[in-house]
Amino acid sequence: MTRLHTPICDLFEIDVPIFQAGMARYTTPELVAAVSNAGGLGIIGGLGRTPDELRSEIRQVRELTSRPFGVNHVVCQIDQAAVQMTLAQRVPVLSLAWGRAADLTYQAHEAGIKVVHMVGTPEEAGQVASDGADAIVAQGTEGGGHVGMMSTLPLVPQVVDIVGGVPVLAAGGIADGRGLAAVLMLGAQGALIGTRFLATPEARGKGHSKDVILNALGSQTVASRFYDDVMGKVWPGAIVRAVNHPLLEEWADRVQEWALAADQLRPSLEAALDAGDFVLAGESAGLVHDIVPAGELVSRILHQAEDLLATSSD
Ligand SMILES: Cc1cc2nc3c(=O)[nH]c(=O)nc-3n(C[C@H](O)[C@H](O)[C@H](O)COP(=O)(O)O)c2cc1C
Repeated sequence: MTRLHTPICDLFEIDVPIFQAGMARYTTPELVAAVSNAGGLGIIGGLGRTPDELRSEIRQVRELTSRPFGVNHVVCQIDQAAVQMTLAQRVPVLSLAWGRAADLTYQAHEAGIKVVHMVGTPEEAGQVASDGADAIVAQGTEGGGHVGMMSTLPLVPQVVDIVGGVPVLAAGGIADGRGLAAVLMLGAQGALIGTRFLATPEARGKGHSKDVILNALGSQTVASRFYDDVMGKVWPGAIVRAVNHPLLEEWADRVQEWALAADQLRPSLEAALDAGDFVLAGESAGLVHDIVPAGELVSRILHQAEDLLATSSD
């Protein structure tokens, strides 16, 4: 057993405290199963999938692994039919983010499903803890995709202090064993990792999106409401972090015009997303230097963190 086996591993019946973020349509059954087979917890992205698609993803993951896995749903964008299907499938873990969901948490528990709920502030952490979440993800603004405003370093210990013993995972900016070791020192019991898992053969990348991540420095990501304004999404409290792109540069100073010009801008944004030019990713992109099979990545991160912690306790 690894020395990094924290209580959250027993709670979720996994060996390694590394969760792969449920990232909308970027996850594949192969990615989720590879992480779970390596002892971590793979999570299927539910956002943007129809109930039928999601049912098929769950079936495929079950064919590829007998280990626990999760399904992610975004509360402020909820698709009730997809969520009810997820509960009916009695998946091991329901991953939630972006909004309170006390009823859903209750329903999940009734179905024997554990709930892990992601937040971006200490206040939200207190709320989802009182709603009954089994574990809380504290997501810092360094992360990729939709993020809040607080940084991981001050957020994680504040969440740990406020949730009264509910286990906490850290997310945002973690891509290697140094990050995992650091957040364990902050009081987290593990890490939830998104951007790093995009640079695996198993993740679904469009066009040359994986190369964009390999080539980006952390200083080359930007977070703003551009993506949601142009796509017409209402996502309270969120900004979206992506690798900088000519569209973002061109429109950077015209914030008031993003929503007004959405119809004009949307085709260009969608084309750039399809080509893999416009890439949602976090500051940890600057720590990603190779495409590694997801299972290998889990053990690489684990062993680096173990070595660092062993050295520091010598
Ligand atoms: C491309 C992409 C898509 C994402 N989609 C979702 C999603 O559908 N639901 C969700 O809860 N989080 C989503 N996230 C955020 C992750 O859950 C996680 O908090 C974040 O990736 C952690 O930071 P990191 O990217 O630095 O590892 C997404 C992140 C990325 C990079």
